[in-house]
Amino acid sequence: MSKINNNENDDERLTDADSLDDIEDVVEQTLRPQSFDQYLGQEKIKKELDIYIKAAKQRQQTLDHVLLYGPPGLGKTTLAMIIANEMGVNIHTTTGPSIEKSGDLVAVLDELEPGDVLFIDEIHRMPRAIEEVLYSAMEDFYIDIIVGQGSESRSLHHQLVPYTLIGATTAAGKLSAPLRDRFGIVERMEYYTIDELSKIVFRSAQVLNIKVDEEGAHELARRSRGTPRIANRLLKRVRDFAQVAHKDTIDYDMAESALNQLQVDNAGLDHLDRRILNMIIDLYDGGPVGLKVIAANIGEEQETIEEVYEPYLMQMGFLKRTAKGRVVTRKGYEHMGVPYPDRNE
Ligand SMILES: Nc1ncnc2c1ncn2[C@@H]1O[C@H](COP(=O)(O)OP(=O)(O)O)[C@@H](O)[C@H]1O
Ligand SMILES: [Mg+2]
Repeated sequence: MSKINNNENDDERLTDADSLDDIEDVVEQTLRPQSFDQYLGQEKIKKELDIYIKAAKQRQQTLDHVLLYGPPGLGKTTLAMIIANEMGVNIHTTTGPSIEKSGDLVAVLDELEPGDVLFIDEIHRMPRAIEEVLYSAMEDFYIDIIVGQGSESRSLHHQLVPYTLIGATTAAGKLSAPLRDRFGIVERMEYYTIDELSKIVFRSAQVLNIKVDEEGAHELARRSRGTPRIANRLLKRVRDFAQVAHKDTIDYDMAESALNQLQVDNAGLDHLDRRILNMIIDLYDGGPVGLKVIAANIGEEQETIEEVYEPYLMQMGFLKRTAKGRVVTRKGYEHMGVPYPDRNE
């Protein structure tokens, strides 16, 4: 995805959950859980989906449309695949930006067998005109196709098979309200706890044949930004350090020293996260400062700052949003080792 890591001066971000090279892509497929059993964490979502899936199967109906939203790397694509698996149907995958004309949408919808899942990743990046075509395609399974031009034009009722649309997005707020309302099931993905991430690290280590002990897994989990994709990536990087150091098991010391060398700090922040906090502290006295200004100073797009970096900084309580802009909290100052200014508030 081009919106991330588009700054050529930037080192590759180890904790950027959204950029993958081809080899990583293959490993990611290998590590992708195939069933709810293997999908660790997100307990509330799993429990709800399990009921909806069972109920739909009992009624022999398609599952309601599902919207999954949350930061990258938390398991949206994986969950969509598992839902299709559990429903016993095929999944067809596309992305919002690749659907440019209503004809593109008709083409993907026409490929579906009754009950299939259509997965649209980054659904918020679909053109607005296409969103409008989707309304009837979701609600009543038909599309009005306009043929001819000017006074000759007429609309053809094009019937579709019943199907389940699963949309994934990092920015649910960017969907139009009518589109959002057409999803019967809306699930917000949460950052994972350290315990959940430890389990994910263990599972991945097993799949990749890497030895890691309890404390090593815990340290990796703690520094993974609450994100399975990052946990898996750090595991692979730390394995490289361990191998070169002739250590056959990743223990606490190994994990800690490798992660320090990778510039991932003990709260999981990488140099870019820290740059954001530092910049607001140094140049703007801790804020408030607008998103635009932050983006310009950091050299990233506003959207990326808002959807990828900020959610974790806020989750950690280092940054907060106010009406006037972003503010670094006392906790954020403490984490950066800078005395909190007396604001006389
Ligand atoms: N709940 C989970 N349990 C175990 N591994 C997970 C889980 N969620 C995600 N992963 C791992 O993280 C990777 C990224 O997940 P993905 O579904 O692609 O995230 P998203 O689509 O939200 O960006 C997957 O390949 C998988 O290995
Ligand atoms: Mg995805």
